[in-house]
Amino acid sequence: MIDETTGALPVEGVPAARVLDEIRGLRAADRPTHGGRLFAYVYDPGVAGLDELAEAAHAECAHVNGLDPTAFPSLLAMENALVGAAARLLGGGPGTSAPDVVGSVTSGGTESLILAVKAARDARPDLTEPRIVVPVSGHAAFAKAAHYLRMALDPVPVDPVTLRPAPADVAAAIRPETVLVAASAPSYAHGVIDPVAEIAAVAAAAGVRCHVDACFGGWTLPWLRRLGAPVPPFDFAVPGVTSISVDLHKYAYAPKGVSVLLHRDAGLRAPQFFAYADWPGYTMVNPVIASTRSGGPIAAAYATLRHLGEDGYLRLAAVTRDAVAGLADAVRAVDGLRLLAEPESTVVCLTADDPGLDLFVLVDELTARGWHTQPQLAYAGLPASVHLTVTAAVAPRVAEFGPALAEAAAAARAAGPVVLPPELLALAGSLTPEALTPDLIAGLAAGLGLGAGPAPDRMAVVNTLLQAAPVRLRERLLVEFVGLLQRPTW
Ligand SMILES: Cc1ncc(COP(=O)(O)O)c(C=O)c1O
Repeated sequence: MIDETTGALPVEGVPAARVLDEIRGLRAADRPTHGGRLFAYVYDPGVAGLDELAEAAHAECAHVNGLDPTAFPSLLAMENALVGAAARLLGGGPGTSAPDVVGSVTSGGTESLILAVKAARDARPDLTEPRIVVPVSGHAAFAKAAHYLRMALDPVPVDPVTLRPAPADVAAAIRPETVLVAASAPSYAHGVIDPVAEIAAVAAAAGVRCHVDACFGGWTLPWLRRLGAPVPPFDFAVPGVTSISVDLHKYAYAPKGVSVLLHRDAGLRAPQFFAYADWPGYTMVNPVIASTRSGGPIAAAYATLRHLGEDGYLRLAAVTRDAVAGLADAVRAVDGLRLLAEPESTVVCLTADDPGLDLFVLVDELTARGWHTQPQLAYAGLPASVHLTVTAAVAPRVAEFGPALAEAAAAARAAGPVVLPPELLALAGSLTPEALTPDLIAGLAAGLGLGAGPAPDRMAVVNTLLQAAPVRLRERLLVEFVGLLQRPTW
């Protein structure tokens, strides 16, 4: 039977106003995308009128297809303008040491990273097992790229205090089959900037490409530097940096679906493209993974950049910088909590020193108070932590956050840490992914309150269980749990 509210294809069409009401009704269960209380997933500048502008631009081009730039020159023009703006911001373009920078607009950071890895791989067709070197703090999308492209990934540990890889360790990880070395500016998890100059130097010395993942920080670090922050060199001004990714749907505050992948020159970019003429259909050439691409996100990003301008981004960066400082002070003020890393960009990452203060319970207590933060599991000697992506819209909330954090910490202490039943703990520690049966998964999910429908309000038990599991089992459990959510509505 077709569900009247959620069925996508009713027998008889539903009036437009009602359809929109239904969508708004569904949205009511979502986390708030605006208002500065959600510290992940969304990037909100809090600028009046910007959403309306981006939506209008999006609508104007939603049906335009980026498949063929000759058919829709409007899209090509906007894409080239976005690439030019990103290149200029990141040390490239006329009058710089990287005058020949070229780029592409992709759908997001993951696609940019996959394409940077693909370009590096396909530039070395002589290798049977091409490899990439990535610090463990590098975004998971590098691992996804290696997986999709059937390449080997050589992880480099990070120092438990600085959370950065040592350039000597990066150098030691480079092998004859290495085609790309990655650095983050900054890392998503902790917000720290890798020693890009040193990493690029060891990559260049080995004749290997160096990609700087500035998906998160590429649109904030340049403004923070202009405001006087001690941002180390991380862009095309650094010799040896061959490509950079920067997401416009993050700190350029564009709606979702836009990232830019830049290469130092067209020769480096060439193997990113895919062309095919060996079929009877249209001649196909795709610079990016998608073939048909909506013009909507590109036009919305173009409108956002034009409207905010350099002065707008500088102002938003100053506001965000002050919000970061305020949130960091709030963390320092709570006994038992500490910053895992001193903020050097727009991330606040905190951890707990006190075993009586369970971070996953703290996250739930914050959620219960309307503050949505992101738990990060302990990994490879790094403690569990809580991640806060800070955007300009957080600024007016900073004064409320301190007391809320203190209150949530007190409540978490009073509740005490999550204690898993010993048999569950033993299971999590000993089970292999292969031993997971559908019955076992269904039982686990039911016990944890997971399954069809929204996730439970309190996730501390789930996070504790995942943390107790070895990495491969964590991955398998995540796949199974999300698989339970992705079921058709009949
Ligand atoms: C540093 C970094 N790289 C890559 C990505 C992946 O970006 P996306 O989620 O747009 O695919 C992110 C996302 O947060 C990121 O922070």
